This record gives sequence, structure tokens and C-alpha cells, in this order.
Amino acid sequence: MSFHVPDGISPAGRDLREYTDELRPAHGIVRNDRDEWVLLRHDLVRRAALDAASFSSAASRFRQVPNGLDGAEHSAFREALDPLLSAGALARHVPVFERVAAELVASLPRGTSIDAVGGIGALFAVRAQSAWLGWPTDVEDRLVAWIGENYAATRSGDLARTRQVAEHFDDIIREVLAGRSPDASPDADVTDQLLAVTIDGAPIAHDDVVSVLRNWTGGDLGSIALCTGVLVHGLATAPALQARLRSGVSDVELDAICDELLRRDSPFIGNRRVTTCPVELDGVQIPAGAKVKLHWTSANRDENVFGDPDVLDAAGNAPHNLVYGIGAHVCPGRTLATIELRTLVRALLAGTSTLALDDAAEPVREVAPVGGWASVPVLVG
Ligand code: HEM
Repeated sequence: MSFHVPDGISPAGRDLREYTDELRPAHGIVRNDRDEWVLLRHDLVRRAALDAASFSSAASRFRQVPNGLDGAEHSAFREALDPLLSAGALARHVPVFERVAAELVASLPRGTSIDAVGGIGALFAVRAQSAWLGWPTDVEDRLVAWIGENYAATRSGDLARTRQVAEHFDDIIREVLAGRSPDASPDADVTDQLLAVTIDGAPIAHDDVVSVLRNWTGGDLGSIALCTGVLVHGLATAPALQARLRSGVSDVELDAICDELLRRDSPFIGNRRVTTCPVELDGVQIPAGAKVKLHWTSANRDENVFGDPDVLDAAGNAPHNLVYGIGAHVCPGRTLATIELRTLVRALLAGTSTLALDDAAEPVREVAPVGGWASVPVLVG
């Protein structure tokens, strides 16, 4: 191990955005108390993400589709699955997302504190996603409860508890799948279309369908809720920006502003890799078989690339924005996430005349291993 890599770093109880801001100027790489080599700088994260041959995604002992796959098998799954998440395939769902968002905003109590994460983001995520996947509404309450359980388990760091929560989620998915049959027609619901997917000519395995749905919903539900917290906090604390959006902006401009707010505070912290060979990064020798973490939150605030990371510059920073990753594993759900977040922000602004932090209750930051805000109390008028 190289002498200039700090070792045994523990982020427990810390706000990861603040903590990595402290570490990054002096250290591009640190080693944490989980024996992971954590890449903090933008250039290092980018390099590892683009070198899938040296940085394998098979970092979990459980099969994860497509997240944990490498090489040709990974490409085959992405080729088969990405069309289900394309702009064309999503177009028919946009009016549904708009209706879900408008109904949610209309139901928000006026003049009473609302948590933007739990009381807006999580509810929207579950309702929009159930509609997208064609899942019955009675599953929604169980999914909302599951998001809470999942965060509690992740925060606890207790692996047995995390496993139990994952199994609970699989039970929900298996129930949803019971009695369904594959249907590739364009007007079939997305779950039936997924069951009809073929991989290299063979029908997708049932366990792989469960894994894909776990990764889609895991990517969507928690992230959309956390992204909502970041976006609402960003708008509630920037009256001029909020006023600009209220006066009307194009989808392209709104999406760019959302991406930039998420760059400044990426709630999707990082992803794991394992080295397939010895790798030299930033003058540091990382051995084969080492656990590596790509820290998106830190990379997205690297002052070498973004200058003052808190200053918003949507156009200037867009080419370097890593909120949705980069390389072979770049987020296939980006278009869906962008549409959902845009729709929710539009509905929030169209359905209210004011959106402000509730002065009577402080927003609370998440702590490791979760990012963004735990709660953002707001008042809408
Ligand atoms: C809400 C905001 C979201 C953020 C910030 C986000 C971020 C990311 C990032 C950074 C990666 C790269 C992972 C890596 O390199 O290992 C990723 C991958 C992935 N995301 Fe998202 N994501 C979001 C929403 C979604 C949605 C809505 C879906 C699907 C419905 C989704 C599904 C996935 C999947 C399946 C992968 C793994 C892709 C692969 O390994 O090939 N994500 N996401």
C-alpha cells in the first residue's frame, strides 16, 4: 500500500458531501474502514468508470442484473433492456406521470409543514413507478413502507438486516409477477414486456427478471425521493431561480438546471468495482482483487473541474456532470429519471404560488452511506 493514501477512514455519522469536500483537496484516493479504495477526484472516478476491463462490476457475491455483470454478458442485457427505458418507449407514460404529479401536488396541505423527501418525493416515485410498470395500486403502500425499511437497514450497516429487507422486496416482486405472462406488444405493460425479453435468443430467466426489477426499482424509488429533496431544497433556497422557472422555461433548460442542482449535491453516492489486475492510479499501486468505490458525489464537486462546486453553471458544467455515471454502466434510467423529476418540478411550480423552507423546522442532512437530505420541511402556498 502506498504511504500517502490515508487508511481506515471512517465516514460513519458524517455528511458525505461535507466529508469528501474536506478530504479531496489533499487526497484523490483514501482507504476506508471497509477496506475499499475510495476514488474522490473526478479524473480518477472517470478513468475507473471508463476502464471496465480493469475495474469489474462483479463486486457483489449476489448476481445483479445488469449492475453486477461485465463484458459480453453485460452488453447483451443492456442491448435487450435499454429499449424499454428509451425516450420513445417512455412517451406513452408521460401523461400518466403528469397526472400523478398534479394529483399529488393538489393534495398537499397548504400552510402545513411537508417533508419534500418523504411527503413528496417518495410518494411520487412509488406512484409514478407503479403506473410505469403496470403494478396494482395496493402495492404502493407496501413499497413506500419498504423505502423506509431499506434506508433504515442501509444506515444500520447491518448486513443481515439489509439482506432481510432485500428478501422482503423480492417477495413483493414475486407476488406482482405471479400469474403474468410475457407480452412484447407495444401497448403491453412494461412488466409483461420485460418478461418477453430475450437474451442472445433465449427467454430471460425468471430470477434475472426479479433482479432487473429490483435494480430498476432500487434505482428509481430511493433515488427519485432523494433527488426530489435536493431539487426542492435548491428551489426553496434560491428565490430568483424559482421565479425564473415559474416564469416558464423549456424542458431542455429545466432538465439542465435539475442536472446541475444534482451535480452540486449528488444523492446517489457511489458504486463498487473490483480490480481484475494491478492498477496504478494517481501514482498509487492498487493490487488485483481490490475493492474500489467510485464516489460520484465527490467527483461532482471536484474543484479542479468545477471551480467553486457550490456555484451553479448548468451549461458550463454539463459536459463533466457524473450524476448518472459514465462508461459501460452509465445509468439506463436517466431518461426516465429526468422525465419524472421534470414532471414533478413542473407540477410543484404550476400547482403552488409559493414554495419555501419551513423556518420552524431545520432541513436534516443524510449521513453515510446515504446522500442528500434526510428531510426538507417546506411550506407551499
Ligand atoms: C433518480 C436518479 C438516478 C440516479 C442519480 C442514477 C444514477 C446512476 C448511476 C451513477 C449509475 C452508474 C452505476 C455504475 O457505474 O456502476 C446508474 C446505473 C444504473 N441505474 Fe440509475 N440512477 C437514477 C435513476 C434510475 C432509474 C429511474 C432507473 C431505472 C428505472 C435506474 C436504473 C439503473 C440501472 C439498472 C443501472 C445499472 C446499469 C448497468 O450496470 O449497466 N436508475 N444509475
